[in-house]
Amino acid sequence: MCGITACVGEDDVVDTVLTGLKNLEYRGYDSAGIATLNGHGVRVHKREGGIDPLSSEVDHVEFAGQLGLGHTRWSTHGAPTDENAHPHTDCTGTVAVVHNGIIENYAELRSELAAAGHLFTSETDTEVVPHLIEDELAAGYDPEAAFRRAIARIEGSYAIAVLVDGTDAIFATRQGSPLVLGVDGKRRFLASDVPSFLEYTSRVVYLDDGDFVRLTPGEHVITDITGSPQNRPIETVEWGSEDAERDGYDHYMLKEIHEQPEALRRAINGRITDDNRVDLEEFPPGSFDDVDEVHFISCGTSHHASMYACQLLRDRGIPAHAFTAGEYATTPAPVTDGTLVVAVTQSGETADTLTSMRDVKARNARTLAVTNVVGSTAAREADDALFIRAGPEIGVAATKTFSSQVIVLALLVERLTEDITGEPSAEREGLLSALRVLPDQVERVLRESTAASLASQYADADGRFFIGRGVAFPVACEGALKFKEITYEHAEGFAAGELKHGPLALVTPQTPVLAVFSGRHDTKTLNNVEEVRSRGAPVIGIAAETANHVESTVDVFLPIPETHPELSGVLANVQLQLVSYYVADLLDRSIDKPRNLAKSVTVE
Ligand code: M6R
Repeated sequence: MCGITACVGEDDVVDTVLTGLKNLEYRGYDSAGIATLNGHGVRVHKREGGIDPLSSEVDHVEFAGQLGLGHTRWSTHGAPTDENAHPHTDCTGTVAVVHNGIIENYAELRSELAAAGHLFTSETDTEVVPHLIEDELAAGYDPEAAFRRAIARIEGSYAIAVLVDGTDAIFATRQGSPLVLGVDGKRRFLASDVPSFLEYTSRVVYLDDGDFVRLTPGEHVITDITGSPQNRPIETVEWGSEDAERDGYDHYMLKEIHEQPEALRRAINGRITDDNRVDLEEFPPGSFDDVDEVHFISCGTSHHASMYACQLLRDRGIPAHAFTAGEYATTPAPVTDGTLVVAVTQSGETADTLTSMRDVKARNARTLAVTNVVGSTAAREADDALFIRAGPEIGVAATKTFSSQVIVLALLVERLTEDITGEPSAEREGLLSALRVLPDQVERVLRESTAASLASQYADADGRFFIGRGVAFPVACEGALKFKEITYEHAEGFAAGELKHGPLALVTPQTPVLAVFSGRHDTKTLNNVEEVRSRGAPVIGIAAETANHVESTVDVFLPIPETHPELSGVLANVQLQLVSYYVADLLDRSIDKPRNLAKSVTVE
């Protein structure tokens, strides 16, 4: 978790570092800080809260310098206070460190350092690093060697960047946490994620675990811990900075909801042939001949997309299971030579997902990452990668990436089915034809939705239940997750048939039920709707515009265009995204940065 950013150049970097931090605020917003180095030594300013208050307090004259680093924090060790904010410094104030990740052996290092007289001012795991460097400097090592020697003593996952007084360089390294380098003329950037510096450059170098980098104006040198040079190419990212801007929308989330038609067009572009076959460049026919079972591992919204894909595979007779990655890491399922493990992760950096993927790789299973981020850890560590092409998603709540994941997974499902069973699925023709027009249909939902008008009616309730069957079940779960995430109000998603096995006891006139109809099993779902209506709960139905039987039963009807039943969930989900968004807006919630959350969860 957390975002780190750094810049070296020939001019003052204060504004650049603050901008880089602002662009990373979605990664954490409990506290923020900046350190620069100039002729007067290391300057540090840090505080609890987001980037704006930090920026307004930084004295640009005092902080002016050509080397700077910054940090935005999502708390793991220690409360979100000024003291626990990064950068952390040593006893002499000449070393400043920012860190993303967890140092697992910090407790023993801290006792050892404290016993030797080091003074700690925070509760963080990070603070051991500047003190370790301080000791190495005192022992006579130069700053770069001191940095390497300090890093050799820590265990865990980290991306770390360091400023040391008396040098013209920033030193950094990564192990299990993301760190990417940007190149722009004489300027060099470092960040947890590319959008941090995208407005300055799209030329990036993806660092690998174990890489050490030394940044000076006009130069970056990458080595391993022994100092042996590592060759990492400069690549050009396709996203432009405008993709990461708000573009007149009140929130990134709303912008990203409206970007779904474009994102879906990109997701399918070139992947469906004129004669309705799936053409995945990365996976020609036969790529999965040896597969006989699929495991999905993922978290949160990505897990709901995995549940969706799992359903499609099972409908085609292929054994498939969707595991939450945190559970898969602790309670691994048996795998065989025929198991394909698909890690679904928007960011490609989610620790739970990476841990399970690494574990299953060690058990010799074949892995495939389905991700949005080229160059992400998941993409690089999996045997293969398939990209969802959604473009940058800044809002903490995942929206367009869910739709793109579902669509790309649906294409993968068709490829798998053909390879495993030897013939195309019975759904292929209809599904792929429907996919071609799905982006236009999402556009229509966005244009015609009346979800905004429901906000005032349903904002005030004791709780909300989201229900659905088949592919509408993961959509119900996703609708509830989105609702609670951004409104801070209680919501739960259930398989429609499950309500009567317990949760029905909670259903009252004060608990609206949002029922999603996929076009399959609708009669059964309608029975469940009757069960809740007879307990007085108002029902909002989301179904095809032609589903008169649904429209005439529910209290409020949110129609979606007619599509293939296996794709209806994507359209229904757009309506649910809008319901959550407008309720959260009415309640004046922090929509893009909901409390206690962060975009990319890089701790287990
Ligand atoms: O980057 P990932 O897809 O691996 O992230 C997984 C979850 O942390 C993420 O989907 C989270 O649940 C979203 N904030 C939900 O909107």
